[in-house]
Amino acid sequence: MTSATLYATIGPAGAGKTTWRRRHAPTGAVVVSLDENRAALSPCGCSANQAVNAVAVERGIATTRSVLAAGGTVVWDVTSYLRRFRERLIGLASEYRARTVGLVILPPLPTVLARNARRDNTRCRVCGYARRVPEQTVRAMHDAITAALPHLHTEGWHDLRFLGQSAPSPLR
Ligand SMILES: Nc1ncnc2c1ncn2[C@@H]1O[C@H](COP(=O)(O)OP(=O)(O)OP(=O)(O)O)[C@@H](O)[C@H]1O
Ligand SMILES: [Mg+2]
Ligand SMILES: [Zn+2]
Repeated sequence: MTSATLYATIGPAGAGKTTWRRRHAPTGAVVVSLDENRAALSPCGCSANQAVNAVAVERGIATTRSVLAAGGTVVWDVTSYLRRFRERLIGLASEYRARTVGLVILPPLPTVLARNARRDNTRCRVCGYARRVPEQTVRAMHDAITAALPHLHTEGWHDLRFLGQSAPSPLR
């Protein structure tokens, strides 16, 4: 028996994932933030630099392996809008017999678009990315997660929680 646990947020850019985990990540949990990893790996320091995304993910996976092997808790602060990405996290956790908790953060699309629109749209001269995500990308992420909602319970999560929505949680 192990207490190793992997939490992963599931929500589009601007949904409030980072805000949530800063307030509510369990005490002692190690946070894997792709934004922070990308910033650390980018010559320009940009968290939005997608050119270093694959390496940022690999770094997060390495961190996760060491935390779960020691029976700890890891919180992935990621959009997880693609099924294959969610499956990768669930598969990784299963190698350590870790519990998996999906945290769905899906405010209405207009709310998410408005939050994203408040972000700086200046493109970095080095990597070419801005902190604001293109609106079409936010819409695509929101659509993909909305379409996945009825199937999330079949993906293998031990627990799914629906956060920050006005509708009553289906788990209650
Ligand atoms: N519950 C909330 N109520 C009001 N505003 C919020 C709430 N949660 C987040 N915000 C605001 O929305 C914006 C986006 O939040 P946040 O940075 O946490 O999103 P994110 O999901 O981490 O986005 P990304 O995937 O791009 O990193 C921020 O300006 C934040 O202050
Ligand atoms: Mg964030
Ligand atoms: Zn940059």
